[in-house]
Formats: sequence, C-alpha cells, structure tokens
Amino acid sequence: MSKSSSNSPGGSLKKAERFSSSGFILAAIGSSVGLGNMWKFPYITGEHGGAAFFLLFIVCLIVVGLPVLLAEMTIGRGGRGNAATSLFNLTGNKYWKWFGALSVLTAFLIMSYYAVVAGWTFQYTLDSLTGGLSHKGMDYEAHFNDFAGGLMPVFWQAVVMLICGYVVARGISGGIEKFNKILIPGFLIILLVLMARSLTLPGAAEGVEFFLKPDFAKLDSESVLVALGHAFFSLSLGMGCMLTYGSYVKKEQSLGKATIAIGIGDLGYAFIAGLIIFPTVFSYGLQPDKGVGLAFMALPAAFSQMPFGAFFGGLFFILLAIAALTSAVSILEVPVAFAMTQWKWSRRKAASIVASVCFVLGIPAALSVTGSLSGFLIFGKTVFDWFDFSTAYLLMPIGGLVVTLFTGYAWKRAGEEAGLAGFWYRAWMVALRYVAPLLILVVLLYSLFVKPV
Ligand code: PHE
Repeated sequence: MSKSSSNSPGGSLKKAERFSSSGFILAAIGSSVGLGNMWKFPYITGEHGGAAFFLLFIVCLIVVGLPVLLAEMTIGRGGRGNAATSLFNLTGNKYWKWFGALSVLTAFLIMSYYAVVAGWTFQYTLDSLTGGLSHKGMDYEAHFNDFAGGLMPVFWQAVVMLICGYVVARGISGGIEKFNKILIPGFLIILLVLMARSLTLPGAAEGVEFFLKPDFAKLDSESVLVALGHAFFSLSLGMGCMLTYGSYVKKEQSLGKATIAIGIGDLGYAFIAGLIIFPTVFSYGLQPDKGVGLAFMALPAAFSQMPFGAFFGGLFFILLAIAALTSAVSILEVPVAFAMTQWKWSRRKAASIVASVCFVLGIPAALSVTGSLSGFLIFGKTVFDWFDFSTAYLLMPIGGLVVTLFTGYAWKRAGEEAGLAGFWYRAWMVALRYVAPLLILVVLLYSLFVKPV
C-alpha cells in the first residue's frame, strides 16, 4: 500500500503531507465546530423540544456519531487516499471507490451553500461593530430579508471562497493546521466572554431552563431524525471530511483518543453556544423558534437592547465567522484532495478551480433565500433549501451508510488500524454493523418517503 509515498501532483517528489498530533485534533475540532453548533443547533433545539432534544442529540452523537467518526478517520489513515480512493486502496474493489466518490459530490454541494451563510456572518460582524444593527425600533426580520435578498451575500460568499481557497492551497501543515491553531484558541476566549455575559443577564435562568430542563412531552416523531441528522452534520460525517483529514494523521496517533477529544469538543461548543443563545433570547422576551433566522434576527434584536450591545454583538458574529471558516476549509479540502489525485493537479490549481466552481454553484443558493430566486421553487423548496436538504438528509446519511457498511463488513482489518481490541472493538462493530446502519436507514426512508424535513 502507498504507505508514505506521495502521489505528489506535478511530478515533484514531495514528502507526504501530515498533521502534527495536536494540529490534527485542533483541525478536526475546527471542522466539527461550525455553523452547525452556533447557528443550526440552537434553532433546531428551539424548534424540536429544547432540553429533551439536546439529550437526544447527545445519545445520537455517542451511539452513532462517534463510531462513524472513528471509522472515517480509520479508513483515511489506513487507505492514505482521498474520500474515494481510500476505500479502493483498502479493498482493491472499484465499486467502493464510486461509493466513496459520492461524498466528494456531497462536499461540493455543502460548500456551495455553507459559504453563503458564512458570508452572512461577515456582513453582520461589520454591521454590529459599526452600530448598524442597533437603531431604535429596527425591524430585524425585514433587515435580514433585505440583506439576504440583495447582492452583498454573493460578494461575501466570494470572500469566504477566497480565504478558504488560499488556506487550502497552502497545504496541510502550512495552511489548514496553522489556520486552526491561530483561530481556535481565540474562538474559545470569545466564547467564554459571551457565555459570562449571557448568563448574567436578568432573566437568563428561563433560557437555561429551556435548554437544560428536559420535558419529554415536547419531543415529536421528527425529533430523533433531526437529532441524528444533526449529529452527522455537526461531526462533519458522511461526506469524506474526517476521512480526508484522517489520511494526513501519523501512524503513532491514537484515533480512539482523537475520537473522544473531537466528540467532547463538538458537544462542549454546542453546549456553550446554547448557554449563550437561549439566555440572551429569553432575557429579552424573544422566542427561540425563529428557525434559520434565530442567529440573524432574534439575537441582533437582543444585542441592540444590551449595554455595549454593539461590542457583544460584534463578538458573537466574529465567533460565528471563525466557526464557519474553520469548517468551510475542511469541506473544501475534500474535493481538492480528490482533484489532486484524480487529475494530478497541483494543490494550488485544485484549490483555485474547486473554490471557483463552488462559488458559481453557490450563487443560486445565495440568491434564493429571500432574493430574486426565492420564488423559484423545485417541489416546494428553494435552491438553498435543496442544498441543505439533499446533503443533510440524503447524501450525508448515504455517505454514513457507506462508511458503516465498509468498516463493519467489507474491510477486515479496521480494528487493527483503529487500535481497538476486546470489548471496545466488539462495541464498535455492533454500532457499525447494526445500530448505525439501521438508524441511518430509518432517517433516509423517512426523509425520502414520509416527510421531507
Ligand atoms: N460540522 C460543521 C458544522 O457543525 C459542518 C460541516 C459539515 C463541516 C460537513 C464539514 C463537513 O457546522
């Protein structure tokens, strides 16, 4: 197997790219902690049952998410290829390669709409810091709709693509690892400052209660599906991301420990995000069920009434922007790594071309939220909603299924590569062979035939 040989594009014989141990953990946490934790998690928790939903999410994360996360990283490190070729390298079977290639397509689609939302955070950061979001009597819903309906989101999406393309073009240790090492510690500091602020607001307790005191009557039949889908999204699974990052991990690193660190990191950030958002929203008498608009409508309204609100609002959107960027970089790396091996492109060329294509693909997504394409519906959904739905509820579960079946049934040496034996190996296999595929299948069938969420 191509253990340390690099199929280095352009013919130059470069050393294979690798993360340092801590660099890998930071980059993987950077990938998993993203808009999913800070923007999506709070609003789906608000819509699907508060604390009870949070508990359900934790269960899904542990029972399905972590085993699949370990499987992805193990396949990547064992196969030392991209999302498609790793599966082939380990079995010599070309069909697996095609299944793996599906995740490259998924990454493409996610990147295209993820960069749009990431772009919104840039505008909102600027607006908050310059006081543009704290006019008296401002209608935040109208403001968001106006902004999202204009052309600025396309501009910001281009900026996001440029930044991500640049970081990815600089490679693994000089680009992705460095970027995460700079941003993630700053991220933690801002997070703690904001948490201290929100927990000391008058009436914060009501928000904490909503988030942490479970009332199981609030759960509905969709809650489990949404929780599972979100566990996948939040851990960056089912689209080759952790697999691709895994292919840059050194042999000596423990993947089991990495899994636990990433799981705790992801859950910890979601927990703190909840402790920032719910107390803030409740403290100003707002409702947490604003859907997609929670972060962009309800929160600016709350910040505008708070002392030094422009400052705290600015911090919050910087936080969102950092979370989004460190994730977007990891999404872009999936098709870039694929293009580098598939077409023997240099990293720079692959990064520029892939980022440009994603940019073009993202334009209709950007314009379809409230803009000129918002009336253009395909089976009742806008282009933006299609990107989200087709990836989170169809393609990512399919990608997850491929990983579980591959590791559970097709590849016999997974335990060895993962460094698992005895009880933990058996538990991992039960999760991969039975629990995860079954649950994923239910999600898939439900979203396909019963009710597209
Ligand atoms: N995990 C990221 C988040 O929570 C999103 C993501 C999905 C990143 C898939 C990479 C791959 O926002």
